[in-house]
Amino acid sequence: MDASLAHKVAVVTGAGSGIGKAAALMLAARGVKVALFDMDGAAAKATAEEIETAGGAAVTAEVDVSNSSHLKQAYEKVIDVFGQLDIVFANAGINGTLSPIEHLPEEDWDQTLGTNAKGTFLTLKFAIPYMKERGGSIIITSSINGNRTFSGFGMSAYSASKAAQTALGKMAALELSAYRIRVNVVCPGGIETNIEERTKKDEEHLAEVTIPKVFPKGQHPLKGEPGQPEDVASIVCFLASDASGHMSGSVLYADGAETLL
Ligand SMILES: NC(=O)c1ccc[n+]([C@@H]2O[C@H](COP(=O)([O-])OP(=O)(O)OC[C@H]3O[C@@H](n4cnc5c(N)ncnc54)[C@H](O)[C@@H]3O)[C@@H](O)[C@H]2O)c1
Repeated sequence: MDASLAHKVAVVTGAGSGIGKAAALMLAARGVKVALFDMDGAAAKATAEEIETAGGAAVTAEVDVSNSSHLKQAYEKVIDVFGQLDIVFANAGINGTLSPIEHLPEEDWDQTLGTNAKGTFLTLKFAIPYMKERGGSIIITSSINGNRTFSGFGMSAYSASKAAQTALGKMAALELSAYRIRVNVVCPGGIETNIEERTKKDEEHLAEVTIPKVFPKGQHPLKGEPGQPEDVASIVCFLASDASGHMSGSVLYADGAETLL
């Protein structure tokens, strides 16, 4: 158990699947009480059951992170149940629709930016009042896309939202330093989660704009395969703990060096 994490309280958004679930389980295993926010309430409850079975403490809230009243109520519930808030992992996100800009429907742009960019803004905004007295740590899941990689054809909305999250994280790091709230950003490369299942692809039009990428041998230099959610979760635990106490405004890549190819 990490002494600086024990008895802390964390909110994890997108805690029902993939990276959010792995981070929630790992934080809980290190003694953190975890509030699991997800628009899929059943998935959040399943994560809570795993945490409780392992002896940890969890609470769930069915939250769409693009909806301010959902978030406000959920944070109130966290304070009612656990009495404090120390760590926020703003992670919920979608790929949305992959399409050339010319063919991307306006409402699909709005959905991706609404979930990933506005959702992160709201997740931070409504956490601050509960964190500013005691300080704490905020971690945002951005991506290699929009930061180091711009060859994800059709991912213009996603990449724009991920660049926005990084900029927001750096602005927040400065602004919230007055309250001893640290803010850092993690940019995963390809990670095996359920995100592809929820991705729409305009295959017909994408073929018109895609430039083939040719890698020398395989896509993932370090291990020859995509990362696992736990590869990101362990970085989240580090950023949540005092071991990263002098880090704020940093952007960490968890991509097995794939973006250096
Ligand atoms: N998987 C990857 O390769 C990869 C790479 C880089 C960045 N990311 C980022 O990691 C984060 C987590 O993605 P993942 O791969 O674990 O995906 P996932 O689909 O496995 O999990 C995402 C979770 O977020 C929830 N969610 C989606 N929209 C929501 C909303 N509006 N409000 C609340 N909850 C919502 C889903 O219900 C789901 O439980 C995302 O921000 C994603 O952009 C993923």
